[in-house]
Amino acid sequence: MKHFLDVSDYSPAEIQDILDVAIRLKKEHFAGGNKPLFKGKVLALIFQKPSLRTRVSFDMAMRHMGGDALYLSPAEIGLGKRESIADVSRVLSGYVQGMMARVFEHEHVVELARWASVPVINGLSDFSHPCQAMADAQTIIEKFGSMKGLNVSYVGDGNNVAVSLMHISVMLGANFTIANPEGYDMPKAAMETGAKLAQASGAKITYLTDPHQAVSGAHVIYTDTWTSMGQEEETARREAVFPPYQVNARLVSEADKDVIVMHCLPAHRNHELTDDVADGPHSAIFPQAHNRLHAQKAVLARLFEVA
Ligand code: CP
Ligand code: NVA
Repeated sequence: MKHFLDVSDYSPAEIQDILDVAIRLKKEHFAGGNKPLFKGKVLALIFQKPSLRTRVSFDMAMRHMGGDALYLSPAEIGLGKRESIADVSRVLSGYVQGMMARVFEHEHVVELARWASVPVINGLSDFSHPCQAMADAQTIIEKFGSMKGLNVSYVGDGNNVAVSLMHISVMLGANFTIANPEGYDMPKAAMETGAKLAQASGAKITYLTDPHQAVSGAHVIYTDTWTSMGQEEETARREAVFPPYQVNARLVSEADKDVIVMHCLPAHRNHELTDDVADGPHSAIFPQAHNRLHAQKAVLARLFEVA
């Protein structure tokens, strides 16, 4: 049974193959619609945190492909509280053909997968956000043709989105640079995996604290919220530390002239990303959000073994 818990669980060739399927399914969608390859399949959408993109794009991905989705709110399931994760997983495995879960602790989605007899997809954990990374890679490839040799620079918190972006970037041959304030590094385990993936592809990873140094020569500047879901009590401290890491017109002007600016959204406008950049000519934030739909169709198609 194959799950989709992290991009690094797959080989670069497998990731590239899923992205090829995503680009094909996107074309097919706009040329009149996808084939009903998911007919008879229902995907359970388990959420322990809020969502706009993940919830709607998975639901629509299932509908476009002839299947269905079932939203399960944090209050309904009480994952690990009302009922153990192992029991939830085994019960749902008898009702649905796949599960997507957005959780706090990464170990919880791993535990769901351990007990499931249907595919489990990580729809964001505190550690990683692999579905976002697939849409991000698709967006970058659509713009530049390939990720090979590009410079992807992430400015901000070393969070779940940064981890998955780093892994997919170096897997596909892009150099990855992150500039974050001291004390807001990525988890060590993510760096270790990154180093192995980079060694295999020949890409380079650079860890910095200076955002200006980080964006020099960047083809992609990426940022995300300074305070992720679950860290709300740290907001004041983070708002004091992160302003030098704001992605604004000045920072963008220091990158490659064809740079694209990315953000997984939701954005806290005029905090990590200024309005003029978010809505300006370099911004890729909406195509990127829209690609969640297409990239996830491809992930589902591979897990259901139908495309
Ligand atoms: N980028 C992303 O995952 O958005 P949501 O939190 O709205 O799903
Ligand atoms: N890093 C953010 C991403 C939201 C899609 C969070 O975890 O809240």
